Amino acid sequence: MKPRAKALIFYGALSTIMLVVLVFQSDKVSYSPTLPLNLFSASNFELWNRFGRTEENFAEKRENVSIDKNCECISKKTQKSYDFCYKNPKNSSLIGRRFNCSYLKILEDLKLVDAPDQSLVNLANPDRNETIFVSAISDNHFGNFKEMYKLIKQHWPNQKVILYSLELSAIYIKKLKTERNVEVREFDTSKYPKHVKNWAEYRFKALILAEAMRDFPNVWWTDSHNRWNQPKPLAQFYGEIAECMGDIDCDKKSSIFMFVNATHSNYAVLTDGLLDYFPTYGVNTLKYNDKGLQLSAAFVYLARTPLTLDILKWYVGQTQNLKKNLDYFRHTLCALEERCMNPPSAKLKCDRVPQWDRYAGCFRYDQSSLNLLMFNSFRDHNHYFMDAGEVSRTYSHY
Ligand SMILES: *[C@@H]1O[C@H](CO)[C@@H](O)[C@H](O)[C@H]1NC(C)=O
Ligand SMILES: *[C@@H]1O[C@H](CO)[C@@H](O)[C@H](O)[C@H]1NC(C)=O
Ligand SMILES: *[C@@H]1O[C@H](CO)[C@@H](O)[C@H](O)[C@H]1NC(C)=O
Ligand SMILES: *[C@@H]1O[C@H](CO)[C@@H](O)[C@H](O)[C@H]1NC(C)=O
Ligand SMILES: *[C@@H]1O[C@H](CO)[C@@H](O)[C@H](O)[C@H]1NC(C)=O
Repeated sequence: MKPRAKALIFYGALSTIMLVVLVFQSDKVSYSPTLPLNLFSASNFELWNRFGRTEENFAEKRENVSIDKNCECISKKTQKSYDFCYKNPKNSSLIGRRFNCSYLKILEDLKLVDAPDQSLVNLANPDRNETIFVSAISDNHFGNFKEMYKLIKQHWPNQKVILYSLELSAIYIKKLKTERNVEVREFDTSKYPKHVKNWAEYRFKALILAEAMRDFPNVWWTDSHNRWNQPKPLAQFYGEIAECMGDIDCDKKSSIFMFVNATHSNYAVLTDGLLDYFPTYGVNTLKYNDKGLQLSAAFVYLARTPLTLDILKWYVGQTQNLKKNLDYFRHTLCALEERCMNPPSAKLKCDRVPQWDRYAGCFRYDQSSLNLLMFNSFRDHNHYFMDAGEVSRTYSHY
């Protein structure tokens, strides 16, 4: 045989092996929470289509991906099993403590798992069917909400807002009746563990967002301290995301975006116990402004994960949850789990002003946990930090 032919055969064989390895690897990482995020890009989408593997092949394989018995939760409703230990998306050797299996039913009710009929947002398309604004208040924030809402009404006279009531008094609910675009919903805590009613642990926020995501494909969470003074038009915002999805060089391929600099690092407000559930590595990266900046959870945009139905077909069976934003699924579990969103020794009040490379002795509950999950998925806050126009906030309660 001529050397050239030999080389040809050699490279042919090599690339076949590489392809097999690639497919196998892709399959193996299918429990990794970042996978759906990585698949958002059009190029990956085409790649998967071009492989032309049959759905059955994948479905069959997937069924046999074993979940560690110490991490497995089995649905009483469907008998499907779920992995309730978080794996660091960028380092699968880091596995968190298992969440209580009793919360699986809540995830099912919130349609965060096993809800194939939920419609999805395609982020590559700038059109949106329905956008909802969501907030939540108790009595002592009624004035804050009114101010916040005044700006929204000014910019979008017809925008519907769902306001979750945290035991809001009848007198305030009555006052809100005059606002035709505000729908007040009582936040029903009876479905959740008792500690969800500890408002100061902000568990309600994660759960309200999950409820909103169940009911609406596009959610803007804006808490009552938020002042969206000069909004970027939503069509422009959605357009920028759509453009990014088609651009390999664009690294903002998240489906959760935050807009406000919390002015300190993630590290400064990270209480250790959270890492038992959501382990991380390279902690130094969490300390600095270039990649580890904490972003405010007071203002967040979420889209139901925009994997097209074609791609989602790969994720039937136990991996149904991958079609939703897995970060969110984890965030919800954390809110339900006593010691996750309120790790031992966590406190709101800081010992010093939170800055960068020194722990300030305080914890930001929902904000610390959402930021850690986002960071673990992207390892750089710039990937989920966007400009939504001019925003400010008040710190006073009224
Ligand atoms: C997966 O497991 C089922 C039942 O244990 C078995 O029938 C099936 O052949 C397995 N599939 C693969 C691809 O190993
Ligand atoms: C993954 O985490 C382990 C444990 O912290 C660490 O030893 C390893 O270097 C990490 N791997 C990568 C690729 O960062
Ligand atoms: C799990 O949650 C249930 C009900 O909320 C509780 O009774 C049980 O003790 C919890 N289990 C663990 C290991 O915390
Ligand atoms: C809007 O909703 C309709 C009906 O549910 C659906 O057919 C259409 O694809 C949706 N469009 C977008 C941009 O999501
Ligand atoms: C966030 O705020 C801090 C403190 O004001 C500032 O030092 C930092 O440069 C800001 N980061 C970004 C990315 O704007």
